[in-house]
Amino acid sequence: MTCLDGTKVTHPDMWMKRRRPEILELFRTHVYGRAPLGKPEEASFEVFDENENALDGKAKRKQVLIKFTKNGESSMDLLIYLPKNSIPAPVFLMLNFGGNHTVSPEPEIRIRKRQSNTPWGEFFSSEKSRGWDRSIPLEKILSRGYGFATACYSDIDPDFHDGFKNGVHGVFDSLFGEERPPDAWGSIGAWAWGLSRALDYIETDKDLDGESVIVMGVSRLGKAALWAGAQDERFSIVISNTSGCGGAALSRRRFGETVRMINTAFPHWFCENFKKYNDREDELPVDQHMLIALIAPRPVYVASADEDLWCDPRGEFLAAKAADPVYRLLGKEGLPIDEMPPLNYPVMGTIGYHIRSGGHGLTEYDWDRYMDFADKNFKNAH
Ligand code: GCU
Repeated sequence: MTCLDGTKVTHPDMWMKRRRPEILELFRTHVYGRAPLGKPEEASFEVFDENENALDGKAKRKQVLIKFTKNGESSMDLLIYLPKNSIPAPVFLMLNFGGNHTVSPEPEIRIRKRQSNTPWGEFFSSEKSRGWDRSIPLEKILSRGYGFATACYSDIDPDFHDGFKNGVHGVFDSLFGEERPPDAWGSIGAWAWGLSRALDYIETDKDLDGESVIVMGVSRLGKAALWAGAQDERFSIVISNTSGCGGAALSRRRFGETVRMINTAFPHWFCENFKKYNDREDELPVDQHMLIALIAPRPVYVASADEDLWCDPRGEFLAAKAADPVYRLLGKEGLPIDEMPPLNYPVMGTIGYHIRSGGHGLTEYDWDRYMDFADKNFKNAH
């Protein structure tokens, strides 16, 4: 709440016009890096599958090829399910780990060949993984009047370090000039960018309510969802599910995964500059509560799990709470609790938080809360 020149932020306009852009720049420079472009001029959409009677007649389904370049050297498949009786639908948008065919049992979902440096690549490129991901209760989501849209993070950028040759880096990094700068985007930046490209399509499709898009993500993809929601104000609600270090958890606590650990195990996730803060978290010009504050005044939900200490649940709660003053300055409710709530006790202001029992990952309990949170906030908004 203090600008770089020392001025205190005392007015909503000062936050939105001065401090927020400053913090965004700090995250671009020191943490996630900078994307070299927004929506590519050459991007195009091809709806290659449309079915009015998907999931035993319960849903309308579409598959869209989103080409990032003219000839589609880089592209992603977006899979969309819509509740037939409430179109245009608000929609949950999330990236998935395994491929679109892993989140739905339907045989028509296209399997894309996956680049990978592990045996999982072969598994996720084959029929063996169809329906493998059980964390998305499609029918329940549809029955509550929400649509669901998803793309595989690996279409945007395969998740292994190859010196930024594959994925969108390989295609667009030449825009930086000869050398890749130390604040060039890493993989999390690329995945966040891909979420915005999915939204570019959603905005053009009249079956979807482009003004009610909830971006959510689990774990590394929760980090990407927060970064996407922070940068792209078209996302109406942002949800972080067990996102941990580099996501909702405060780096300065050094509890569970630390900056050094994450930069060592995943050298491609953040920008090069972030490595300067290995064991020097106190020198970071930002911490993750400021990432959450960038989402204000839009609703944001942070969810932790009690056995998931690697993600530092308390650090996630404290970050959500520390974003509260910005929400209040902007006339919103913030997070209406001062101490960490008991297990399985969701708190929902404009900032939402829960810690559920169990381990890392996305459960039906989480989904129920996210839909309650979206119901509440969309009702308030319309
Ligand atoms: C690892 C990593 C985390 C990440 C998680 C995941 O545990 O250390 O930062 O969130 O993988 O994406 O599942």
